Amino acid sequence: MAGRGGFSSKFGFIAAAAGSAVGLGNIWQFPFKVSQGGGAAFVLMYVLFIFILCFPIMIAEIAIGRKTQKNPVGAFVDMGFKKWSIIGILGIICGVLILSFYNVVAGWAFGYFLEISQGNFGIGKEFSAFTADTTTVGIYSTMFMLATAFIVSQGVSSGIEKASKILMPTLLFLLIGLVIYSLTLDGAMRGVEYYLIPDFSKITFKVAYTALGQGFFSLSLGMGALITYGSYVGKNDNMVSSAVMIMIADMTISLLSGLMMFALIASQGLDLNSKGGAGLIFTVLPGVFQNFGSVLGIIVGAAFFLLLSFAALTSTVSLLEVPVAYLVDEYKINRKLAVWGMALLIFLVGIPSLYANGGSDFFTNFITYPGADASSSFMDFVGHVANDTFLPLGGLLISIFTAYVWKKHNFSAEIAQGNPTFVGSWQEKIIHFTISYVCPSILGTIFILTVLDRFFGVKLI
Ligand code: PFF
Repeated sequence: MAGRGGFSSKFGFIAAAAGSAVGLGNIWQFPFKVSQGGGAAFVLMYVLFIFILCFPIMIAEIAIGRKTQKNPVGAFVDMGFKKWSIIGILGIICGVLILSFYNVVAGWAFGYFLEISQGNFGIGKEFSAFTADTTTVGIYSTMFMLATAFIVSQGVSSGIEKASKILMPTLLFLLIGLVIYSLTLDGAMRGVEYYLIPDFSKITFKVAYTALGQGFFSLSLGMGALITYGSYVGKNDNMVSSAVMIMIADMTISLLSGLMMFALIASQGLDLNSKGGAGLIFTVLPGVFQNFGSVLGIIVGAAFFLLLSFAALTSTVSLLEVPVAYLVDEYKINRKLAVWGMALLIFLVGIPSLYANGGSDFFTNFITYPGADASSSFMDFVGHVANDTFLPLGGLLISIFTAYVWKKHNFSAEIAQGNPTFVGSWQEKIIHFTISYVCPSILGTIFILTVLDRFFGVKLI
């Protein structure tokens, strides 16, 4: 569409969608969720859910986006199903909520880059004091939001695509190097076993729904980000193979980063099953970089946190793009105005999250759910609502919409453009079966039980 820009090539779309997917969710959040979820059992559920539930929904989102060339609200209106644009509205709310706290964590990553560049490896031990210093973190987060808004205001093809193409492979190589290093350390194997050999007694319903939420979050699914990006995919591109590549790239980064972290945690003799939470990579990694010696430690450590910040940036860009595309398409608001207005709003929504890690007692111990043994911070609370509840709900609605409202043959016809052998293939049968039966039934059940379990302390299983 004129004026909206587009990706210059098929690789451009894959790189940008993978850029959206790969971010703090893989490197910061995945390892600490694994440690809270009992290790390999969580990893197994996460991988299973991605293949069975997330993948078909990913294709559906991209197909809806490419078909309509619209934002997540306009897409449903355009197809003639105005009521279903509730999916897009939910998605936009979700994007605002996620970006509000994501930007704070991105500020931590950027702050760590600056600290480690100056040789301050002690920052690992000072993580709590660092996050409680809301002025400093507030400045870093502001800088991060400004950078995000600047890129989004430049339009989709020039900003997002260029950055992803160079930085993602660099991040992958650095991660591979660190994995190899960490596996050579004494005691690392204890961590590898914890990470790879499942203890099935650890599988509880909570482990299952946090693994599902992690899958959706990590792949940027369930909130229309891929509807928005799908609208930029060429009609001749094969979206099934694109989706496979995005999924594999995202899973690889998560799995490598978990492997690295558990090898490192074990080699330092720390508790693998820590309930440590959000500080995991920030407390463990600086000490590891210090062991490289001051020069190499600064180079590798600074590169790591800088690349993590860039990975976060390609994700924040996609998070901001969702509400912006909506405002620009539906209300014909000037793109720059939409970008800067939304960025400001989201920054304001994020202020309680900025204060939720020691900055204010109220936001740090924000809520205690019925039946929970500890309180949750405001930031955790937003994650529980957005990642673990809204994203799978969005996925559920997208699967029902695609199979029963839009209808499977229309869905197939869209995929078949750019993939001529799709109709009648085994790929089609599997995707139809999962989108019509598996996704609605499993996601529907998990959604209801999650709400009961998490927010009301009612444990039915
Ligand atoms: N997938 C991103 C990550 O794992 O860091 C987070 C994210 C980006 C979620 C974009 C949702 C989204 F629409």
